[in-house]
Amino acid sequence: MNKKISLTGIKPTGIPHLGNYLGAIRPALKLSEEYQARYFIADYHALNSIKSKEILKENTYAVAATWLASGLDPQKDLIYRQSDVPQIFELTSMLMAFTPKGLMNRAHSYKASVANNKEANKDDDAGINMGLFTYPVLMAADILLFDTDVVPVGKDQIQHIEMTVDIAEVFNKNYKKNLLTIPKAIIDKDENVIPGLDGRKMSKSYNNTIPLFEKEKKLRKTIMKIKTNSQGIEDSKDPDNCNIFSLYKYFANQDELASLSEKYQKGGMGWGEAKEILFQKINSHLLPIREKYHELMENKEEIEKVLIEGGEKARKIAKEKIKILKEEVGL
Ligand code: ADP
Ligand code: TRP
Repeated sequence: MNKKISLTGIKPTGIPHLGNYLGAIRPALKLSEEYQARYFIADYHALNSIKSKEILKENTYAVAATWLASGLDPQKDLIYRQSDVPQIFELTSMLMAFTPKGLMNRAHSYKASVANNKEANKDDDAGINMGLFTYPVLMAADILLFDTDVVPVGKDQIQHIEMTVDIAEVFNKNYKKNLLTIPKAIIDKDENVIPGLDGRKMSKSYNNTIPLFEKEKKLRKTIMKIKTNSQGIEDSKDPDNCNIFSLYKYFANQDELASLSEKYQKGGMGWGEAKEILFQKINSHLLPIREKYHELMENKEEIEKVLIEGGEKARKIAKEKIKILKEEVGL
């Protein structure tokens, strides 16, 4: 039996950080054991905000290298660059005709930009381009073109998947046929918001990220900056209320967790020591990924080759689907 399809995209808007790895990349790779994986670099989505050619290119390679270094196997899983699959943009145009403008007005990300403008006493739509406004339609095309069954994403993306379902249902209903597969979002458990250095969601917008690929020394220095309370060495500490412990959970096994938890409660361990334990754990986990990442980034031709091959395979699937859709629509 054919495996079901898991698809997700990451925008190349920066160098991926630990939050992206734990919240998006690692869970998606876990799913690839069970599903047929189609993971792509959403470079057209990034163009909405990144207008420097060099930065867009560098980030695109960085995201591809992160997937590959984290264990994506291009022989088994599909990895491609969105811009290499023009059929996505054909489907976007088709879906535009089925997308009420009001649906876009209700998108959280668009509404948040408008709210920020209002607060700054600017015109409602200041700085908002049409790419940003129609973002959910392109995202729907990304998903629907590949007959996606599941989309592993963070909570912030749920609304986009709901819109994809809405658009697909209107389309299917119009042609009285299930031409588009209805996708489902797969969200990691509640705890999937990885805390940053200051305890808020780790995000490049908050400047509170832990880098994935910096050298050991820099990684230690960053981890030492994690915010804690002002308890002293002898105090008994609460592991369930601590950023260090929250991050440790993503790397440690049950025994290691129980042992650190005991150290917290017993007292006699300062924050410096707890951070050192976390650093050692994260560092040993990231070491092979970091090495592979840098090796790839120094051999961009190798990344390019993987992306070109992935693009060819993706286009083959996309061409078949778009042919069927155009016929059914009368184009
Ligand atoms: P950022 O907030 O740094 O701009 P993005 O919005 O580009 O990150 O997110 C890329 C992917 O990584 C998304 O799937 C998102 O859900 C996931 N992600 C980002 N930050 C976190 C976090 N702190 N915890 C869990 N997942 C995250
Ligand atoms: N919108 C997603 C994000 O901001 C990225 C993305 C683009 C995506 N197209 C997608 C995710 C298709 C899943 C499926 O993180």
